[in-house]
Amino acid sequence: MSKYQFPDNFLLGGATAANQYEGGFSQDNKGLSNVDLIPNGEKRLPIAKGLLDPDKLEKTVNFPARYAVDGRNFYSKDIKLMAEMGFKVYRFSINWSRVFPIGDEEEPNQAGLRYYEDVIDECLKYKIEPLITINHFDVPVNLIKKYGSWRNQKMIDFYLNLCHVLFTRFKGKVRYWLTFNEINMILHLPYLAAGLTFEKNENILQTSYLAAHHQLIASAKAVSLAHEIDPNNKVGSMLAAGCVYPETCNPLDTWQAMQDERSSYFFTDIQVRGYYPSYALKYFERKKLNISINDEEKNILRRGTVDFISFSYYNSRVIGNNNSINKTNGNIFTSLKNPYLKSSEWGWQIDPLGFRITLNQIYDRYQKPLFVVENGLGSKDSLEDGKINDYYRINYLRSHLRELSKAINEDGIEVLGYTSWGCIDLISASTGEMKKRYGFVYVDMDENGQGSLKRIPKKSFYWYKEVIASNGRTL
Ligand code: BG6
Repeated sequence: MSKYQFPDNFLLGGATAANQYEGGFSQDNKGLSNVDLIPNGEKRLPIAKGLLDPDKLEKTVNFPARYAVDGRNFYSKDIKLMAEMGFKVYRFSINWSRVFPIGDEEEPNQAGLRYYEDVIDECLKYKIEPLITINHFDVPVNLIKKYGSWRNQKMIDFYLNLCHVLFTRFKGKVRYWLTFNEINMILHLPYLAAGLTFEKNENILQTSYLAAHHQLIASAKAVSLAHEIDPNNKVGSMLAAGCVYPETCNPLDTWQAMQDERSSYFFTDIQVRGYYPSYALKYFERKKLNISINDEEKNILRRGTVDFISFSYYNSRVIGNNNSINKTNGNIFTSLKNPYLKSSEWGWQIDPLGFRITLNQIYDRYQKPLFVVENGLGSKDSLEDGKINDYYRINYLRSHLRELSKAINEDGIEVLGYTSWGCIDLISASTGEMKKRYGFVYVDMDENGQGSLKRIPKKSFYWYKEVIASNGRTL
């Protein structure tokens, strides 16, 4: 008997996001999105953080989301490759401005909807379960210019209009939905995650939490709407997760690590439990933030709790109190260096046991089914004799999947599925680079968007295929 195994009906597969995969900028009458205005290079981060207005860029910059890896035109070939690997689930996102080009119109753009219907049908053809992220880092630019994006309450209705169209059009075809990708990213990359740029003297914390409040209300309303339209719908939250270790056993370090984790769990606490946690209300008081939650909103939050909790996990982090300068990167959040761990080429600390710890922490906190919707290694690949031997990616994924199996079989955690990130190579969200690759399938394209776009299965493709076929027993 193998040590590792996933439950029957466990959904193993992969994930992409429209802004990093699709391209197809001028197809289907698509409108302009925030992500279409974020360049690669040194201006990317200040823009993503809302500190630099993209309108102030010179004209000659490279906007990778506009072409990405041309998934818009390769989707049927790509889904065929996923089917060859035996995928049970494919997570992808809707480009809001492909369906509602300006965001505040009442009627959707049929050409955009048809595209997503084709993607869904293609999945169903191979018995691949579609898992849709309704919003993964994109906002129609018109909604940013006209309403100030999520700082404005009106966004809730525009988002709900999108949800209504998707839930009715794809009723019976799609069962699994996520309301907002990494909803906690709004506090860290407010323009990329939510279309927010800030005025010079604006109180950034006030605007960010107000916008977050609007997204949380929108998310709860979407859950209720999805259930109303089809009781078979299962709707999940999605959090950028990763456990945080205190740097030392100094209680101050533990306190700080806990505060840090709470700034993320704040979102799931509301989405899963249906009310603002007391620590958040006290925090608003201390910071003099004006986030008023009226009775109607309290009811909306209480009624719209999620069916399951999804999250991304790439790395753990270390937090300390002594302002150590020994920092490294992680999925946007920085961390102190952990002397016990190795890091990826981008400084993200590789911690498979941290994955099991994270699964346990979240399950202990909420006791609801979990879904791992992002995990993987961003790495450079080299093509030698037409082949990519990405043993480093296999090592990363194998060690994480083993811990996932232990969390399920030894800790008793209910996990619905696992979708590795960027199953087909795509553009990096944080850096805009193409060379930071996650896929089982190589895409022939360079940093300037040049290349044949040819898809080439890597060594990990064949390895993952066996993992799926054996439902984890070959791990
Ligand atoms: C998550 C996002 O933050 O991490 C993805 O949901 C992103 O969009 C992924 O691509 C990996 O991050 P990066 O910066 O390596 O692309």
